[in-house]
Parts: sequence; structure tokens; C-alpha cells
Amino acid sequence: MRRFAPWLLVVLCAAGALAASCTVSARWWWAAGPLLALALLGARDMLQRRRALLRNHPLVGRLGYPVREPAPPVHVTPAAQEFFAPSAGPVPPPEEEPRVRVGGPDCTLPYDMALLNVSALSFGALSARAVLALGRGAALGRFAQDTGEGGLSDHHLRGGGDLVWEIGSGYFGCRRPDGGFEEREFADRAALPEVKCVSLKLSQGAAPGGGGVLPGAKVSAEIARERGVVQGRTVVSPPCHRVFSTPRELVLFLARMRELAGGKPTGFKLCVRSRRQFLAVCKAMLAEGVTPDFVVVDGAEGGTGAGPAGLAERPGMVLTEGLITVHNALVGTGLRDRIRIGASGGIATGADIVRRLAQGADYTNAARAMMAAVGCVGAGRCPTGACPVGVATQDPWRVWALHVGDKARRVRHYQRATVRSAVRIMAALGVREPGGLTPGHLLRRTDARTVRSYAELYEWLEPGALTAGPPADWAADWAAADPDVFG
Ligand SMILES: Cc1cc2nc3c(=O)[nH]c(=O)nc-3n(C[C@H](O)[C@H](O)[C@H](O)COP(=O)(O)O)c2cc1C
Repeated sequence: MRRFAPWLLVVLCAAGALAASCTVSARWWWAAGPLLALALLGARDMLQRRRALLRNHPLVGRLGYPVREPAPPVHVTPAAQEFFAPSAGPVPPPEEEPRVRVGGPDCTLPYDMALLNVSALSFGALSARAVLALGRGAALGRFAQDTGEGGLSDHHLRGGGDLVWEIGSGYFGCRRPDGGFEEREFADRAALPEVKCVSLKLSQGAAPGGGGVLPGAKVSAEIARERGVVQGRTVVSPPCHRVFSTPRELVLFLARMRELAGGKPTGFKLCVRSRRQFLAVCKAMLAEGVTPDFVVVDGAEGGTGAGPAGLAERPGMVLTEGLITVHNALVGTGLRDRIRIGASGGIATGADIVRRLAQGADYTNAARAMMAAVGCVGAGRCPTGACPVGVATQDPWRVWALHVGDKARRVRHYQRATVRSAVRIMAALGVREPGGLTPGHLLRRTDARTVRSYAELYEWLEPGALTAGPPADWAADWAAADPDVFG
């Protein structure tokens, strides 16, 4: 209630000045008038629905909030030194937003993914209302919402959007009492019609080597019930999975997940640590004849609102490098046709989407930009649970400020405007389908006199090049990659 104190003080002073103007002297009106106006302004702040900061901090919120977390990058061009190759023959943008079919040969229920979706954000890291607003926005715009590793909560289901159910090393939502993976529970929940895909989180950019962390301040009674943990105690997901310890076991587990999920698209998310490690996974896929339906590559520039910032000091590859590595490894092993690549890490604009598609992704996910759409002001309070706008907190007194209907519409408008912008850029480049984008469409200025395309800057493998006999630059990593060792 402390955050209402300035306004309450104004109300009290206004009441006092009003009483004094009636009883002591009419001169008190000089003070009562402005104070009453301020008190009414504060009441208006609390009643409006558009700005949660003002609802939670009437009057004072008008001064703004010190931004501590860098807001998701918002830029007009992809990056200061990067731009798109002009086309001699632009085409009209397609009437319908393009979608990408996710589902390889072993998938029986393929899913048509939008070009931009809600990245993994768990209930726990985010409030129930934030999760609900994201889900409703996703339902309005027919795009997907990733549940994050905190489990498939009722708030996700109530949102009505298409869900990608993510499980991490804590197996929340399908966890045995000993912390292992409970197959029956997973199968039951994965069968829900809202769940369109299932995903296994290996790592994320902001915490490539560690498990997810949910600070005790955010472990409310509901979260504790949801995850099967102790209320108020920090939850640390184990750094490693218990159900597999080698790349071969990983791909076999993914196959098992898909089987338990009734054939729904199944994939994994990672922040690539080394080329050799990802090649080991590709070798395991080849050896077992099993492929996931998608891989989500998260960049080291990715965010986490849940864990301490220190984890970000052990980064994996930035998104450009990770994406190009994964795309090349899959092309070079002849597996690219079966596996879709999603990309996350700093995606906020249409230009960001086009840039990532040109670098090898099929679709993109955004976390912090979607959080901004539900009202995040970058206050940097996520780990403390004292989010001033009700987005990343479990404090019901803060969460009340977030108006689900208003924010759901914003999420929907943000996603639609961003995808439309991407489609317009593609059309200007002469490309109608995302698959038509190539590294040649993306240029980078390397010095004051030189501009080169990504096709020239990076090595792009031919289909099957690795299995046929790896090019010199890949030979050492290919030889060292072992399907039975993560390395
Ligand atoms: C508050 C918060 C919670 C997150 N929770 C998860 C999670 O549960 N699982 C996961 O795979 N990634 C999680 N992430 C990472 C995001 O899904 C995303 O990969 C990363 O933030 C990069 O995307 P961005 O730059 O659009 O934020 C979280 C990120 C944030 C900011």
C-alpha cells in the first residue's frame, strides 16, 4: 500500500484544507482547490485501464519510472551497420500472412506457425494476468504462446491461444516426486487441444549453462502448488536433465515425447555453446534416424527476468552466430528439410524478423517485446517480485493494475503490425514467401568503403556437405563431434 501513500496524503491534505476553508477562513480555498484537483487526478489514474504504472502509482507514476533493464531493442534498420539488399523487382505483399508448417515425417499433427510468436515466459516469472493477456492476444491474432518451463498453467489454458508447452529440467507440470519426468502426466496434458507443440528446453541465452531460477519472492501459494515446490523458497531448476545425458539419449527422448504427445510437433530450445556440440546432436539424429520437428535457437543477447543477472556472464553464441551454425549443421547433414528453425533474442521489429529469416530461421519468437506490449516498463524489478506494472510479479496488489482486455488487444496489434512490416520489407526485396529470403538479401558494412552480403561473409554449406566429406573449416569439429558425448 506504500505506493498509494503520496496520493492518500494529497487526499488527506485536500480534505483538511476543505474543512479549514469552511470553518477557519475562505482563504484556505487557495490550498483546497489545487489539492482537490490533484486528488481527483490521482483517482483518475487509478481508474483508467491503459497504464498500469499509473494505476499502481497514482500521481507519482506521472513522473515516469527509472528504466534499469534495457528495453528490447527497437530499431528501424536491423542493426546500425546492417541493411537489406535493394531489389530491382519488388512484388506486392501477399493478402494473407505467411505461415510456416512445423512437422517432420514422424509428426502426425503438423502446426502452421506464425512468423512472430510469444517466446517462452513462464507463469511464475510473469503474473497470471500477464500470461492471460498474452494468451488472449495470441488467440485474437492466431499465433502461438510458449508456456515457458514453469508448467502449463490454467492461465495459459484460459487465454485460448495456441500453446507450445515447454518443459525444462524441473519438469514442472509432469514431475515425479523424486524430480524425474512423469510420462503419464505429460501425455495427459499434452493431449489437450490447446497444446499444439511440445518443446524441451536445454538452455537459454541468458542462462546457457544453468537451470532456470525463480526467486522465493515470486513463489506464491499458487506457484508452489503448480510446480510442486515450497512457497516462498527460491526454485532452481537443475542445470542438467535427468532423463538424458548424451546427444543420442536426447534425440531418443524427443522421439518419446512426440509419441507421448500423440504425434504433435516436438522440438527443443537451446543457446548454442559450440559448433561441435550441435554437430554431436546432428550425428545422433542421423544414427538413430530420429529428428525433432523444430529447434529454437536463442541468442546470448536473450533475456531472463527470473534469474540473477550473474548467470548472463557465461554466454553462449549470439543469435547470428548460433542461427547460422544450426542452419548450416542441419543443411550439411541433409536434415534441414525435416526441421524448422525458430529464432529468439532481441526480436522486436519487422526488420528483425526479416534479418533472422535471411540468416536461416523459419520463424521467430519475442519475449521482452511481448512483455512491453503487456505494459513492461523495463523497471528491472523482475527478480524482486516488485514489478510496478503487475507484469513480472505475484503480488496481487500490483497485479490488479494490469487490465487483461486492454493488454491482449495491444499484444495482438503489436504482433500484427510487426508481421505486416516484415511482409512489406520482404515484398520490397522481391520476396513473397519467407523461404525465399537468402543470406544474399542481408548486407553488412564491414568498413567505410566495403559492403558485403551475408552470402559472402559466412560459409553456407551445400545439402549433405558434412556427411559427404566436410569442408576444411568444418572438418575438425565434425570429426570430434560424438553422438554419445555432449562435450
Ligand atoms: C521474464 C522472462 C522469463 C523467461 N522464462 C523463460 C522460460 O521459462 N523458458 C525459456 O526457455 N525461456 C525463458 N525466457 C527467455 C525468453 O523466452 C527468450 O528466449 C529470451 O528472452 C530472448 O528473447 P527476447 O530478446 O525477445 O527477450 C524468459 C525471459 C524472460 C525475460
